[in-house]
Amino acid sequence: MGRDPRPLPAGRRHRTHRGRFPGGGFVRIPELTVRFTEADADRELRAEVREGLTDHPKWLSPKWFYDAAGSELFERITELDEYYQTRAEHQILRRTALTIAELTNAATLVELGSGSSEKTRLLLDALSKHGTLRRFVPLDVSESALRSAVAAIEADYPDLEVSGVVDDFTTGRLDHGENRLVAFLGGTIGNLLPEERAGFFASLHAAMRPGEWLLLGTDLVKEPSRVIRAYDDARGVTAEFNRNVLRVLNNRLGADFDADAFEHVARWNTDQEWIEMRLRATRAVHVRVRELALDVDFAEGEEIRTEISAKFRRNRIADELAVAGFDLGSWWLDDASEFALSLSIAR
Ligand code: SAH
Ligand code: AVI
Repeated sequence: MGRDPRPLPAGRRHRTHRGRFPGGGFVRIPELTVRFTEADADRELRAEVREGLTDHPKWLSPKWFYDAAGSELFERITELDEYYQTRAEHQILRRTALTIAELTNAATLVELGSGSSEKTRLLLDALSKHGTLRRFVPLDVSESALRSAVAAIEADYPDLEVSGVVDDFTTGRLDHGENRLVAFLGGTIGNLLPEERAGFFASLHAAMRPGEWLLLGTDLVKEPSRVIRAYDDARGVTAEFNRNVLRVLNNRLGADFDADAFEHVARWNTDQEWIEMRLRATRAVHVRVRELALDVDFAEGEEIRTEISAKFRRNRIADELAVAGFDLGSWWLDDASEFALSLSIAR
C-alpha cells in the first residue's frame, strides 16, 4: 500500500544505501523486507471488492485505508482534540515503559501495525536504557508509513538493528528473534471482527515461544457520545480518512467513485460495543470498477461499512487472550481510565 512505483518481488530487500536528492544532499533509504507485495494486495483487494461490494449490506476491510494519503490522514487524526486514544496510550507508556523493560528483558521488539512508531520510541528508550534491546522489527501494510518510520528511527537509534517488514499482521508471520516482545498498540486490535480477532490471537500465539510477551493497547467501553465524537471530528479529518478508501479503489482498480457523493457516518453499536464507520451514498450512485468489469449500484442512503473499532472491558480481553494461550499479567490505565495497555505472557 502506498509503495514506491517500482514493485518488488516477495522477500527481496531494498539495499540500504545513500541516495542522492536531485538538489544535492543525501538521504538514507531504509532496507525493508516485503512479504505482502503489491501483487498480494491487488489479488486480495480484487477478491474483497467483488465480495464486499456485492454483499448486503456492503462492506470493505479497514486495511485498505492505508495508502500513503490514508496513513498521513491517520497521523492527523491522532492529533485531533477529539481523538483521545493516542494521548492516553502515550501517557500510559510514559509511565510504564521502564517497568515493561524490567519485566520482559526483551531483546527483540516486534511492532505490529507500527505506522509512525512514534509512541514506540518510549519503549525503545526504556529497553535501550535497560540494556537488553538489540533489534526492532516494525511491521505494517503501509510501505510509505513504514519507510518514514524506519528512516527516522535508524537516524535516532544508530546502535539498534532496525528491520522493517511490509506484511499483513493477520497472517501470524513473525520474524525470528531472541526473547521477543510483540507490541500491538493504538487499539488496532479493535479493527478486527471478533472471529478475525480470535484467529489473530491464535496465530500470533502459534508463532511465539512460551515466555515471550504481548503488549496490547485496547480502547475501553465508555460513554458512546465520547466515542462518536472521536470518530466524527469537527474538522472532518476522519471523514476524509474514511472516504480515502474510495480513492484507493479508484487508484488501484480503476473504479470511478465520486468520493463527494458519500458522507461519513460514525455509529455506535450498543450490542457489539463497537463503533462502525460507514460511507453513505447521498444520492443514487452507479460505480464501474474497470479492472474487475464490475458495476455496483448504490441506492440513495445505502451504506458501505468500512471499519469497526471495538471497545473492550478487561474481562473480555483477558478471556480472549487466555483462550489463545496468553496469560494477562499487567493492566495499566490512563488517568481517565479510557484506554488500557496490557502485558501478557505466552504459555
Ligand atoms: N500503531 C500506530 C498506528 C495505528 S494505525 C499507533 O498506535 O498510532 C493502524 C496501522 O496498522 C496503520 O499503520 C496501518 O497501515 C496498519 N495496518 C492496518 N491493517 C493492517 C494489516 N492487516 N496488517 C498490517 N498492518 C496493518
Ligand atoms: C487504527 N485504529 C485503531 C483506528 C481506530 O481508532 O479504530 C483507526 C481510526 N478510524 C477512525 N479513526 C481512527
